[in-house]
Amino acid sequence: MKEKQMPLVEALFEYIKKDITRYHMPGHKGGQGFSSEILDNLAQIDVTEVPGLDNLHSPQGAIYDAQRLASKAFGSDQTWFLVNGSTSGIHAMILAACPPGSSLIVPRNCHKSVVNALIIGDISPVYILPKYDKDRELVTQVSPQAIEEALGRNPNVQGVLLVSPNYYGMCPSVEEIAHIVHRAGKVLLVDEAHGAHFPFNPRLPSSAGQLGADLWVHSAHKTLPSFTQTAYLHLKGNRVDKDRVSRILSMNQTSSPSYIFMASLDWARYVMDTKGHDLLYNLMDNLENVRHQLKEMGIDNISKSIWPEVRALDPTRLVLDFKGLGLTGYQAEKILRDEEGLQLEMSDHRYGVLICTVADTRSDLQKIVQACQNLWEKHRKNVNIHFPMSISREIPKQMMSPRQAFYSKIQKIPLKESQGRIAAGTIGAYPLGIPRYCPGELIEKDGIEELISIHKKGGTLFGVDQGNYIDVVEE
Ligand SMILES: Cc1ncc(COP(=O)(O)O)c(C=O)c1O
Repeated sequence: MKEKQMPLVEALFEYIKKDITRYHMPGHKGGQGFSSEILDNLAQIDVTEVPGLDNLHSPQGAIYDAQRLASKAFGSDQTWFLVNGSTSGIHAMILAACPPGSSLIVPRNCHKSVVNALIIGDISPVYILPKYDKDRELVTQVSPQAIEEALGRNPNVQGVLLVSPNYYGMCPSVEEIAHIVHRAGKVLLVDEAHGAHFPFNPRLPSSAGQLGADLWVHSAHKTLPSFTQTAYLHLKGNRVDKDRVSRILSMNQTSSPSYIFMASLDWARYVMDTKGHDLLYNLMDNLENVRHQLKEMGIDNISKSIWPEVRALDPTRLVLDFKGLGLTGYQAEKILRDEEGLQLEMSDHRYGVLICTVADTRSDLQKIVQACQNLWEKHRKNVNIHFPMSISREIPKQMMSPRQAFYSKIQKIPLKESQGRIAAGTIGAYPLGIPRYCPGELIEKDGIEELISIHKKGGTLFGVDQGNYIDVVEE
């Protein structure tokens, strides 16, 4: 490659040139959600800890004030600005709440940052399975009963972590679960990465902070007008030591935090605090209209919870079901991008997920209807798509902690020869992305057969390289 090339810069400008309508992160949608004053001065506001501009790691001035305002707006006792995404907040809340050697109840489909925090902190997982709707082929949420049972079987855990909402906008019964967790004397941590907009309109699901969470994170960049990597960590009450949270954040965040990112967090809070209520009403009204038109066309979308374990749905998350068109979500996503200039946040074997925010205009949203109309007319097939699922209801035997597995000598062996070995990484299949094996778990015959069969039928495996090799702990 010649030195004159700038592959990433060129790829980015290529993407801009296509003028794609963005239904993906970040929530500012190509700058639509920012003021021109900020956008025009990005390089100027990229500064450092000069006098008057405070210090994220010991805030006493402007950053302190901005965090206080965010705390008030999000209903916390304390809020920290994060410049390394919810990932750094998830690490901080788990490490602050769980000392080394302790354990935590976590849903099996949690984000990888959760398992990584367990490795860093030498914390053992007690996995619980979210429910699965076989007809709709959707992993939904964990039930309060599952939490209560897990607490009964594991009275020594430090607490419970929930993911609310999940990628499809589904929230569990956070309030009921908070009562159960607190009655048992434990702490409740909530990964609300996808729900930063929740506190700003009563038609949205209530935020975890209102429902009893002790610590919760928000990825500002996912659903608010804020730059990628920006997030908030919130604390309420005194079940977790807030000074310990601050100390951990000083360890896992850069000593040179971006003032562009921190300004963007201040901006996103300001917009939502002052105008979010009305902007969200507009967004939800426009989306209701879009949903209605899509339904009339025959494209189903998830708009009402039919599952007892799903207490609330995020109405700003558009989840389109392409099964009726005889298309997979992957196929529909590609057609919508290549032919209609619309980029989805993600797709799976059946669904397409669109992130809609206050930065989307009415005409942007209307493009979804036209694009789906074209999809329907040009690409509808008369086939019934069926995918093999990796939904084993069993949780494998934990032979060692994730940290022990991580620090063991690791060997690559063929998946088909891995019976009796201990997984060193996370192994599973799309759809649906719930790991079959997590680090430290015993690999058994039925799991290997299940993974190989899914692969043969066209599913994609993760944690398995192209030669079908996996990482296991050396014997
Ligand atoms: C449920 C969930 N939690 C946490 C994260 C991590 O968030 P971030 O990218 O802000 O670090 C993600 C990222 O997609 C996520 O989907």
